[in-house]
Amino acid sequence: MTDLPLSSSLEPDRENLPRHIAIIMDGNGRWAQSRGLMRLIGHKAGVNTVQKIVKAAREIGIEVLTLYAFSSENWKRPAKEVSGLMSLLKTYLESEISSMQENSISLRCLGRRENLPEDIRETLNASIAKTAGNRGLILNLALSYGSRDEIVMAARETAKLCLAGKLDPDQLTEEIFADHLYTAGLPDPDLIIRTGGEFRLSNFLLWQASYAEIFVTDIHWPDFTRENFITAIADFQQRQRRFGKTGDQISDDSQSQTI
Ligand code: IPE
Ligand code: IPE
Ligand code: MG
Repeated sequence: MTDLPLSSSLEPDRENLPRHIAIIMDGNGRWAQSRGLMRLIGHKAGVNTVQKIVKAAREIGIEVLTLYAFSSENWKRPAKEVSGLMSLLKTYLESEISSMQENSISLRCLGRRENLPEDIRETLNASIAKTAGNRGLILNLALSYGSRDEIVMAARETAKLCLAGKLDPDQLTEEIFADHLYTAGLPDPDLIIRTGGEFRLSNFLLWQASYAEIFVTDIHWPDFTRENFITAIADFQQRQRRFGKTGDQISDDSQSQTI
C-alpha cells in the first residue's frame, strides 16, 4: 500500500497502526439541536466529517475503515429524517465516486442493501463494482445494518449448508461462521471509535468487536477532526492488548519478537 503525503502537522505514529478502524458516527442530531438547527443540518455537516476522515484514514495507511451510517433500528426514525438521510447518502455516493477512484478506495457495504430505496441501491452497487479493484483503503459503509440480524443470517446460511450435506455441524468453526458475515475475509476491527459520548455498541459488529479497543469521545460527529482521529489512534497505540493472557506474557512475547 502506498503512503500518501500527510496534509496536517499532527503526525500519527506509523508503528502498530490499527489495521481496521470502525466508527459509530453519533451526535449529528444533538450537534444541530444545540445550535437551534434542524437535525438534518447535523447529518449534512456529518457528511463533511465523513469526507475528512476517509481522506485521513487513506493518508495514514489504515487498511479498513468501517463507518456506521444507518442502523437497522434507524428506520424507526421519523419518515422525514429517514428520507433526508437517504437523499444525503445518494448525493454522497454520487459526489465521492471520482475521489474514491483517484485515491484507490474500495467501497463495500455491510447491511441489508435490499431495504434501501432502489435508486440508492443502484448507485451503491455501481460504486462498489467500479471500485472493487482498488487496493488503497477498504471503506465499508454499514447501511441498514444490524449485528444481530447479521449473526442470524450467518446462522441461517451455515444451517442451510448442513442441511444440504455440505457442512458437518461438528466441523463448524468460528472461522467458517465468520465467512458468512458481511465482513468475511476482513480483519476484525482493532479500534472502535464512538463519537457523541454514549458508552454502547448499538447493535454494531457484536461478533467482530470481541477484542476491539473502544474509544469514546464526547465530541459530536460533525465536530470530529483529523486531529481527533489521530488522537484516538494514539490512544489505541498506548493500550496493551492481552487477548486473555497476562500482561507479563504479552511483555515476554514482544521482547522475544525484538530479539
Ligand atoms: C448519528 O447521529 C447518525 C445516525 C444515526 C444516522 P444521530 O442522528 O443519532 O445524532 P444524535 O444521537 O441524535 O445526536
Ligand atoms: C448508532 O447511533 C447508529 C449510527 C451511528 C448509524 P444511534 O443514535 O442510532 O444509537 P442509539 O439509538 O443512541 O443507541
Ligand atoms: Mg444518536
